[in-house]
Amino acid sequence: MKIFLIGFMGCGKSHWAKIWGEKYGIDILDLDCKIEENEHSSINEIFKSLGEDHFRKLERKALLQTANIENCLIACGGGTPAYLDNLKWMKDNGVVVYLSAEPEYLLRNILKETNSRPLLKGLKEKELLNFIEAKLTERKRFYESADLILNSADLSLESYHKILDYA
Ligand code: S3P
Repeated sequence: MKIFLIGFMGCGKSHWAKIWGEKYGIDILDLDCKIEENEHSSINEIFKSLGEDHFRKLERKALLQTANIENCLIACGGGTPAYLDNLKWMKDNGVVVYLSAEPEYLLRNILKETNSRPLLKGLKEKELLNFIEAKLTERKRFYESADLILNSADLSLESYHKILDYA
C-alpha cells in the first residue's frame, strides 16, 4: 500500500514520514528529493532556471514513477495535490493523508527555512503569514479532498495507527 502525505510547507510531511518509516519499518520516499535526483539539480535551481510550470511537470513525472512501488510512505511537496491531475492519481493509487495545520503553526516551522524554499524567498514574517493564508485558502479544496485528515499539532508516533486503521 502506498500512503501519500500531503499538506502545506512546514506541516511535517517529511518529518513524520521519517519517524513513522523508521518506527514501523516502512520505506519512505520524499518527492522533492526524487525530483532532485532525477534532474541532478536542486528544487531552488529548477525553479530559478526553468520556472514553476516546468517544476510542476517534473513533480508529476516523479509522482508517476512511484506507480510500481509497493508499501511506501511518500512525503509529497506542498503543491503536489494542487496541480495537474495529481490528487486523483494519488487517490486511485493509494491512501492520501492531509496533515492539516493553522497558518501560525506553519509560519513557526518555515520562518527559518525561507531560503531553501523558492516560493518563500525574501519574505519577511508578516508577508510570509499573508502568503501562507492566501495559498492555504487556494489549496484547501485539494488538501481537504484527502482520504484522511490529521491535525499536525496532535501527531505522535502512534498516529500512524490511524492511517493503518483507515487503510
Ligand atoms: C512547494 C513545496 C515544496 C517544494 C516546492 C514547492 C509548494 O515542498 O515542492 O518548493 O508549492 O508548496 P515542501 O512542502 O516539502 O517544502
